[in-house]
Amino acid sequence: MHKVLFLSLSVLVLSACGNKASLQPITLSEQQQQLFEQSCKTCHANPANPAPQVGDKAAWDKRLEQGLPTLVQHAIQGFNAMPAGGLCATCTPPDFEAMITYMATAQTQK
Ligand code: HEC
Repeated sequence: MHKVLFLSLSVLVLSACGNKASLQPITLSEQQQQLFEQSCKTCHANPANPAPQVGDKAAWDKRLEQGLPTLVQHAIQGFNAMPAGGLCATCTPPDFEAMITYMATAQTQK
């Protein structure tokens, strides 16, 4: 319940900024990097998987048209073949946001 409330609040705040097109590349914290490798990477750095791949700017730009907050929400709630929480039980909404930003802006495909 608290998680949901926190999420809707942060979605509101983030939407208010409304600058979905200009994501800046980021570096994940060591902990986020570790969580990323244990979860998202299984599918998002695996061309055999239909998931949008790390560094595939075109694929991510298309998805970013719905806004970063929506992508964060989809990561948390699940989206088609994307499992809820991306198999990361301990990821927080800011973690998801950082990981999505990382995948969408990484310079190289991994
Ligand atoms: C078991 C495989 C798998 C794992 C693990 C996984 N994903 Fe995904 N993800 C997918 C697939 C497949 C899609 C494409 C779903 C579609 O568009 O139908 C997807 C799509 C997405 C999208 C786009 C949603 C949209 O609205 O277009 C985001 C954001 C995302 N994943 C974030 C993450 C994050 C963050 C993690 C790690 C915490 C993660 N995923 C872990 C399989 C996975």
